This record gives sequence, structure tokens and C-alpha cells, in this order.
Amino acid sequence: MDAPNPHTFPREGDIGKILLNEETIQNRVAELGAQISADYQGRKPLLISILKGSVVFVADLLRAIDAPVEIDFMAVSSYGSGTKSSGAVKIVKDLDRAVSGRDVVLVEDIIDSGLTARYLLNYFRSQNAASLQICTLLLRDDPDREPIDIKYVGFELPPAFVIGYGLDVDQEYRNLPYIAEYARA
Ligand code: PRP
Repeated sequence: MDAPNPHTFPREGDIGKILLNEETIQNRVAELGAQISADYQGRKPLLISILKGSVVFVADLLRAIDAPVEIDFMAVSSYGSGTKSSGAVKIVKDLDRAVSGRDVVLVEDIIDSGLTARYLLNYFRSQNAASLQICTLLLRDDPDREPIDIKYVGFELPPAFVIGYGLDVDQEYRNLPYIAEYARA
């Protein structure tokens, strides 16, 4: 038998069950964009996308909003390894401008424990944002998650390791247009 071709994409055996196909994702993103457009009528929301996972989602969401809107980016990482549960988050790339007085929509690809989102909401609150909402494409089932108010949820997911549409395994597969289970998890 021939050895597997390392340049085949996606690599054979990596992609498990497709949970959300491209059309399903795009339809839902269009709905979220319409909802945000309606909810923020007369205001100009600031979408804050958390790198890197949310870039694919936010690029589509931005174009699904039929109203004035701005975008900014932050990059964060957990302090050290194994400390994610502490909720301590390190800001690796900060906002271009403070969010004082702005209507902020935190945009995430996925929320698990909710610790990253909780930390960021506190951060934006400390900068006196006028309003704060969360928009996440995926909300993964996590029985340990403390209650967190998430206004916009694309899809709820069981606790599976998923890749595609921004979500990675070792930085790969963010470019898949669909979301699938990672078969080697
Ligand atoms: C993911 C996701 C959120 C965070 C959610 O980012 O984009 O930022 O984890 O987890 P939590 O709800 O348990 O805090 P990740 O650390 O995988 O980085 P990436 O976006 O660069 O892939």
C-alpha cells in the first residue's frame, strides 16, 4: 500500500462527522446579522473579535449586518498551561481604542467554560462600555460553566472536539468552510 500523501487536504482520517455544513452556517450567520442590525438600529455597534478563531465568523457576520458597524480585534491567552480554569487571561493584543461609551458586541467562535468571555466583559465594563453583549457562533455544552448571559448564539454543540470555520487543531483546518468533528480526538 502507498504511504499517505502528506499534501492531501484535508488529511485522510482527520475529518469526522460534519456537524454544520457551509449552507447551514451561512444561513445562521445571515440571521444573526439581521438580528444585530435590527437590535442596534440608530446605534453603531463595535464588534470585538477575539483572535484567532473568530476571524472567519466575524468576517461573514460583519457583511451580514446591514447598518453602520465597526470592528476591532483582541488576542488573549490563558496564563501558563493548565491554568485556564483560574480564568486569568493575558492580553496579547489590546484594542486600538478603549471602548468607553460604545455598544460592544464580543464576537467569539466558541464558548466553553465562559472564562475568556467573562474576563473580557469585565475588562470592557472597566472601560465604561455603554452596553455589552456576546455573540458566539458555537456554545459547547459544559456542565461546569457558570451562568453567563449570551444574547446571540449560532448553534449549541455537544462536548465534541470540532474543527473548521475558524476552529483549529494545532493551528490547522481553520480554513474549512464547514464544522466537523476532529476524527483523531
Ligand atoms: C477559544 C475560543 C475562545 C476560548 C473559549 O480560543 O476562541 O476565545 O477558547 O474558551 P472558554 O469559554 O473555555 O474560555 P483558543 O484558546 O482555542 O484560541 P484560538 O481562537 O486562537 O484558536
